[in-house]
Amino acid sequence: MPVSANIAEMERRREAAKMGGGAKRIEAQHAKGKLTARERLDVLLDEGSFEELDTYVEHDCMDFGMETQRIPGDGVVTGSGTINGRLVYVFSQDFTVFGGSLSKRHAEKICKVMDTAMKVGAPVIGLNDSGGARIQEGVASLGGYAEVFQRNVLASGVVPQISLIMGPCAGGAVYSPAMTDFIFMVKDSSYMFVTGPDVVKTVTNEVVTQEELGGAITHTTKTSVADLAYENDIEALLATRRFMDFLPLSNREEVPTLPTSDPWDRLDMSLDTLIPDNANLPYDMHEVIAKVLDEGDFFEIQPAHAGNILCGFGRVEGRTVGVVANQPMVLAGVLDINSSKKAARFVRFCDAFEIPIITFVDVPGFLPGTAQELGGIIKHGAKLLFAYAEATVPKITVITRKAYGGAYDVMASKHLRGDLNYAWPTAEIAVMGAKGAVEIIFRQDRGDAEKIAEKTKEYEDRFANPFVAAQRGYIDEVIHPHSTRRRIALGLRKLRTKQLENPWKKHDNIPL
Ligand code: HXC
Repeated sequence: MPVSANIAEMERRREAAKMGGGAKRIEAQHAKGKLTARERLDVLLDEGSFEELDTYVEHDCMDFGMETQRIPGDGVVTGSGTINGRLVYVFSQDFTVFGGSLSKRHAEKICKVMDTAMKVGAPVIGLNDSGGARIQEGVASLGGYAEVFQRNVLASGVVPQISLIMGPCAGGAVYSPAMTDFIFMVKDSSYMFVTGPDVVKTVTNEVVTQEELGGAITHTTKTSVADLAYENDIEALLATRRFMDFLPLSNREEVPTLPTSDPWDRLDMSLDTLIPDNANLPYDMHEVIAKVLDEGDFFEIQPAHAGNILCGFGRVEGRTVGVVANQPMVLAGVLDINSSKKAARFVRFCDAFEIPIITFVDVPGFLPGTAQELGGIIKHGAKLLFAYAEATVPKITVITRKAYGGAYDVMASKHLRGDLNYAWPTAEIAVMGAKGAVEIIFRQDRGDAEKIAEKTKEYEDRFANPFVAAQRGYIDEVIHPHSTRRRIALGLRKLRTKQLENPWKKHDNIPL
């Protein structure tokens, strides 16, 4: 055969692969408001950067008439490309080909990009849109899932793994995204559940919609399975591009640096008056975060879940930092089960990928109540304590107001190897608030309002300030609020060469 015919044959096959399940199914995909697997990659990756692998892979199933139905690519488009010039590996399930269902070969394609990403040290981004296990293949498909799961675990903490859920994701298939670092969902067109509404109805007699059981709103507000919900495919993909700019490519690489015109020593005088005179009034911790980070750019994770703690990425002097902050606007910034779990996972991600952690503290303590105690706040609160204590990345803490009780210890205190622990002059560092403290230590004087008021004042004067802790060296310096950014920038610079290792162990045993 002449060379030109060979090339023509290759082109023909390539074109066939590009058509996936055919024009009609592509149309159906568009009619649902969804992009196709390839269109999604076009939005996600830098123009022209996508290099496909395994374009011609087909399944090897001979049952249920599958031997006559073969589509090159077998329902998943895989390869690599760049996002703002930085390498990423990708797989994008093609719902137009057997419903994006996962065959053995489909799984092998995903595994190949995961293995390569781990070898070279680049993130894996998975675009999920699949009917689950390829039913005709039976256990071969289940085996394929487990091969992917195994790699998710091995890659965890080595390269960032991001999952976009852009269609169905049901049954055991949910467990691959569940083991990745971040999950973004598309509203109305994506869902994740272990068993769908029909099975739920049969087994428990509950009537529930797909959206209620596993839609983007459910998972970003109630369950916290997913981190962010977007209106449509394009919004989710563009957000992922922005998100990737914050992440290092692997645990061997430094955080990325982006040019910034925001001066490192910018003072913000408005911070000096941010804390209300009345300690019971809230203020928005977002304001502190925005005023400290470069250009106020904060990529918040799980904004719709456990709003009493804020977690997200930003930059100082162009370099990525992770921010954790109590939010006085929600439940007075108290620590509870959900906020502890949310922040613990975030802190561990930052530590795994050498992202310095900035912690802003205004916490009245742990949330009391039977719901919390019986829900296991002991175990779940311990997650955050554990995560901060084991983290060896640079840790800078700023106490803006309250730091009470166990929550003072937990929130990246000096005692948990905080590198720089700052407090604003408005900080109150004590075992508990003055009123509660006096009611306990002067219980016998409860009826004597005058004495209680006097003792409360005495307690406040003694403890409602940062200086008792600063006298002990638990606070490294009491700083002007307006100089917070400058202090943090300087601190991060000096901590760039920080070296700290935990004792050797196979792995720790964080309370799960
Ligand atoms: C093979 C599948 C498939 C599957 C869909 N298709 N799911 N083929 N295996 N799992 C095919 C359909 O036959 C159809 O082919 C095409 O994909 C589109 O499917 P539709 O049903 O027409 O689409 P839609 O109406 O949008 O419904 C999507 C769906 C539904 C809700 C995902 O297809 C569905 O319920 N599929 C089965 C889901 C399921 O039970 N999967 C197994 C779960 S268990 P044609 O040729 O008509 O276009 C599991 C275990 C994983 O996944 C375990 C891991 C450990």
